[in-house]
Amino acid sequence: MSLIIGPASELAQFDSDSFGTVTLLATEHVRVLLAAFEPGQEIPLHAPEIDLVVAVVEGVGELFAGDRVYPLRAGDVAVVPAGQTRGIRARAARLVVLNVVRPPPSAGDHARVAAGAAWPQKREPTADPAALIRAEHGELRPHLEHLRALADEVEAAAEQPLRERLRQAAAFLRGGILPHAAIEEATVYPAVDRLLRALGGGTATMALEHVLIGARVEELERLVDSEPYDGPTRAELRRSLTALEAVLRGHFEKEERVYVPLLAHLAPAESAALAAGLEAAASEGHQH
Ligand SMILES: [Fe+2]
Ligand SMILES: [Fe+2]
Repeated sequence: MSLIIGPASELAQFDSDSFGTVTLLATEHVRVLLAAFEPGQEIPLHAPEIDLVVAVVEGVGELFAGDRVYPLRAGDVAVVPAGQTRGIRARAARLVVLNVVRPPPSAGDHARVAAGAAWPQKREPTADPAALIRAEHGELRPHLEHLRALADEVEAAAEQPLRERLRQAAAFLRGGILPHAAIEEATVYPAVDRLLRALGGGTATMALEHVLIGARVEELERLVDSEPYDGPTRAELRRSLTALEAVLRGHFEKEERVYVPLLAHLAPAESAALAAGLEAAASEGHQH
C-alpha cells in the first residue's frame, strides 16, 4: 500500500474511449478507485453482490441506484447495497467519483444486470428557471432606465412633481428590487452555490465586472475627448463618473468582504506564492 495524497483532479485519469480509473487501494477485502468520466461516458448498469460507496469529488452526473436515477454533484455521497442495480454516468460535464467496493469485483460481476433495468431514454421535460429569471429581470429593466432618466432631471425639475416621482422610484426599489433580491438569495443562490461547488466558476461574476468596468472606462475616455463640453455632454460626463465610482466601490467591497477572508485558508506556501505574484505585478506596474 502506498501513500497517496493530492487533489482528485490531478490524480484522476480521463480516457477518451471509456471512463478512466485509477486504483488507489486494492486488497483482498476492498477496492478503492477514482473513476473519471468525460461527458457521455458511463459505468453500465449492473447488479453485483457488492456494496458500493460513492463520493463525488468533482463535476456533475447521474447515479442509477435500485430502480431510479439520482443527480450527482461534487460533495455528494451515496451508498448502494449489494444486489442493487447501479450505474454512473456523466452527461454534459466531466465527473470524478471515488468508488469504494467491497468485496473487490470479479470478472463476471459487471455482467449481472437486473431484468428490465435501463437508463431512462429521454429526460423528462423540466421547468425552465433560467427563463423565469430572465423574464423577471426583463420586467425590472425598464424601471432602471426610468431611474436614469429621473437622475437627469433631479437638478432642474420643480420640487413638488420631482418629489412625487422620487417617492415612486423609492417605492419601486423597496417594493420591487429588494424583494427580488431576497427571493434570489432564498432560491436561486443556493442552487447556484451547489453547482459552483461542482463545476467551479465562482470568480466569473467578478471577472465579468472587470469587463464591464473596462467598457465604462472606454465610454468615459470618449466623453473626455468630445467637444465642446456642452450641457448634454456635461450631463453624460457626470453620469459616467458617478456610475464608475459606484461600480468600483461595490467591486472593491466584494473583493474585500468575500474573497479576502477566504485567503486566510490558503496553506502557507500558497499564501507566499500569491503574495510574491502580487508584489511582482505591483513593481512591474510601477515601472510603466
Ligand atoms: Fe436579479
Ligand atoms: Fe477587481
